[in-house]
Amino acid sequence: MDWFERESRVLIPFYKRQKVVFVRGEGCWLYDIKGNKYLDLVAGIATVAIGHSHPHFISKVKEQLQKLVHVSNLFYTTPQIELAEKLQKITGLDKFFFCNSGAEAVEASLKIARKVTGRKKFVAFSGSFHGRTMGALSVTWKEKFRKSFEPLIQPVEFAKFNDIHDLEKKVDDDTACVIVEPVQGEAGVYPANKEFMKAIFEERDEHGFIVIFDEVQTGFGRTGRWFAKEHFGVQPDVMTMAKAMGSGFPIGGVGVREEIAEKLEATEHASTFGGNPLACTASLATIEIIEKERLVENSERMGEYFRKELEEIGLRPRGFGLMIGAKVNNAFDLVPKALEKGLVINATSEDTLRFVPPLIINRDEIDFAIEILAHLTKTTG
Ligand SMILES: Cc1ncc(COP(=O)(O)O)c(C=O)c1O
Repeated sequence: MDWFERESRVLIPFYKRQKVVFVRGEGCWLYDIKGNKYLDLVAGIATVAIGHSHPHFISKVKEQLQKLVHVSNLFYTTPQIELAEKLQKITGLDKFFFCNSGAEAVEASLKIARKVTGRKKFVAFSGSFHGRTMGALSVTWKEKFRKSFEPLIQPVEFAKFNDIHDLEKKVDDDTACVIVEPVQGEAGVYPANKEFMKAIFEERDEHGFIVIFDEVQTGFGRTGRWFAKEHFGVQPDVMTMAKAMGSGFPIGGVGVREEIAEKLEATEHASTFGGNPLACTASLATIEIIEKERLVENSERMGEYFRKELEEIGLRPRGFGLMIGAKVNNAFDLVPKALEKGLVINATSEDTLRFVPPLIINRDEIDFAIEILAHLTKTTG
């Protein structure tokens, strides 16, 4: 019996997987169980920012593993406080809460919005994706993800993404928050536009709701800035983060302004595992590597190069930094074909490929990818 057969006997069929079993990674490269090598342009879905098996990451996590893994938030632990201090510097926000995933960060942010405003209504956008738990799903757009689980949390209104007029119609004095991805990821890499972002903050000032940026996918250098909010010159009231935060080690977080933190109270929200010493050490090591190897800058530079090369082979790219969407005719067919050629890519819909490689990627690796993509799109698409 092979691994595919064994998987089908024991795992709930929630996932449609590519037919490959990965056993090892190094830098931007993955190795399967048969020893074949692949260039990884998915990075665990925009997660493994520093590349696979980074020696500094391994040594820091290993050292912490031998000291202390978990004690809960009934006590103080040093890596959690150090991580929050570091995040203050790179986000400009004041106080932090740690959890274990993006959806959990969104859940916490929605609860914070209700608590601090005393209001109920959430406003989200067409195309949005915020996760699969009931609260996060309630502000997620796609019918296919929501339908079987209704009724979800209400009231929620969806305004058209990048449509100021529709935004103005949907927000009011009962709105607790507007939750927005500065670059929509799961929708296929669609950036918000500047005027639209400005309008969200103008509406906030008029109606007194809070603005939540969901930076779960865009954070930690992905878009060529530490956080995508920097492209817009704005500071949200609340920001979610996860994915690249631990470069593959599960950790999520919420950052808030001081005025918001002041209205939050002990015991009203919590997580058993959230912010444990091991996860926080993984995140601190990730941030150190991003800083030391100047990966935010590399993301911007390599992103630009990648988009230029995609353009040259006729794929019409969009996005910022190393968060790139490209239009093709048959994205779902291309994924297994690319895999056969040693390239790991992801399709978000029939007409969109999403490229979110490790932020350490270099020109030679991008050239390798482009050569395969050029060949495949010429022959199949
Ligand atoms: C913007 C955004 N928010 C939230 C999530 C949910 O994160 P997780 O899968 O870690 O729960 C995702 C995942 O893709 C995301 O892209």
